Amino acid sequence: MSRAALAQGATEIALPSPQTATTTVALIDALSRRRSTRDFSSRELPRDVLSTLLWCAFGINRPDSGGRTAPSAHNWQEIEVFVALPDGAYRYDARRHALQPVVNADLRAATGMQEFVGTAPLNLVYVSDFGKMGDASAEDRTFYAAADAGFIAQNVYLYCAAAGLACVVRGLVDRRKLAPALRLRTDQRIVLAQTVGYPK
Ligand SMILES: Cc1cc2nc3c(=O)[nH]c(=O)nc-3n(C[C@H](O)[C@H](O)[C@H](O)COP(=O)(O)O)c2cc1C
Repeated sequence: MSRAALAQGATEIALPSPQTATTTVALIDALSRRRSTRDFSSRELPRDVLSTLLWCAFGINRPDSGGRTAPSAHNWQEIEVFVALPDGAYRYDARRHALQPVVNADLRAATGMQEFVGTAPLNLVYVSDFGKMGDASAEDRTFYAAADAGFIAQNVYLYCAAAGLACVVRGLVDRRKLAPALRLRTDQRIVLAQTVGYPK
């Protein structure tokens, strides 16, 4: 994604249509290639790649019902995907297939505790909105949030394997530091993060 486009900061960034017809690696091949990688080039991801990646992660695949590419307990769809790019942090708006600006600053390094996090071009942060989980107990909210984020992370792993990208899902996150940086409410909880980029 071009820096100029992102530097606009305050306005929604519309994403191009996801390339669902042209990414045609067989599922078996993607599963064969799936792995965690911690060596990333700093090369930025083109906007069409980011678009397809986010759609695979948790986009809408059934426009009639609003169904998503990953399942969620009770269909709460409570995981919000935050997108930390060099020029800002955004929230993925699946309905509009767009990025909503959150912070006009580079929060990549703040999304993790490992060195590659600050230089890889993209870090996704999976945040559970406990406010969408009805009257579930605290224990159930924590459990379902982790499960639901896991499906999204695996979607990203498989897209990365199919598209020749590197990625690693991460639990090592300083949540107390990152939550205010992302301006989260108290009922929003950081579950996992995932770094994505081209392999070095
Ligand atoms: C819930 C979860 C949390 C993880 N946290 C981290 C992490 O913080 N940092 C990291 O480098 N890898 C992390 N990983 C990646 C694992 O280390 C990796 O999946 C494991 O070593 C197996 O390697 P593979 O993914 O290549 O099969 C995590 C994986 C999972 C499922």
